[in-house]
Amino acid sequence: MAVRILTLVGSLRSGSHNRRLAEAAVQIAPENVEISVFEGLGTVPFYNEDIDAEGTVPAEAAKLREAAAQADALLLVSPEYNGTIPAVLKNAIDWLSRPYGAGALSGMPVAVVGTAFGQYGGVWAQDEARKAVRIAGGVPAEDLTLSIPGSVVRFAELHPVDDPEVTEKLTGVIEGLAARTAATV
Ligand SMILES: Cc1cc2nc3c(=O)[nH]c(=O)nc-3n(C[C@H](O)[C@H](O)[C@H](O)COP(=O)(O)O)c2cc1C
Repeated sequence: MAVRILTLVGSLRSGSHNRRLAEAAVQIAPENVEISVFEGLGTVPFYNEDIDAEGTVPAEAAKLREAAAQADALLLVSPEYNGTIPAVLKNAIDWLSRPYGAGALSGMPVAVVGTAFGQYGGVWAQDEARKAVRIAGGVPAEDLTLSIPGSVVRFAELHPVDDPEVTEKLTGVIEGLAARTAATV
């Protein structure tokens, strides 16, 4: 059975370089690994315990939980915003962290990659994403990293899928993540 990896993109803008990086992951996925990109993160309401109760969970949040529950692993693809992760990604992690101890993130292998404009390619955001995932009960892959600096310049004309250095490293992350799942590759 194929390993199913769900990708969450931390940027909502249509021209997002991180979205393109996620598209590259979908395109280069090795045989027996299926990668999908979650659509609709921007319409998931802010996490609120008042509405996280039976019968009142918003449809978009329920859709996110369902998609994560059906995946074997998560791939977070995100820029850095002001030294940390964009709110949209943190919001997704918060929804996936509940019910406490039994959220979709529980025991889930998670890799974090991304591109940002700064010279370190968003490593602070990636560190923070792994920290939040760990506290939420997920299993961040500390050694599977890819942080690409200079997003706006590097990918101005070039789609990440046409950048051999990117695709080689991204393939390594995907293979490493798939190998961490219970599913057979
Ligand atoms: C609100 C905001 C904050 C940002 N803060 C950082 C930052 O702390 N570090 C960094 O390297 N780039 C920062 N950037 C630049 C982004 O990394 C860059 O625009 C990136 O390409 C955005 O991702 P996207 O192309 O997927 O939308 C920031 C951009 C925005 C809009």
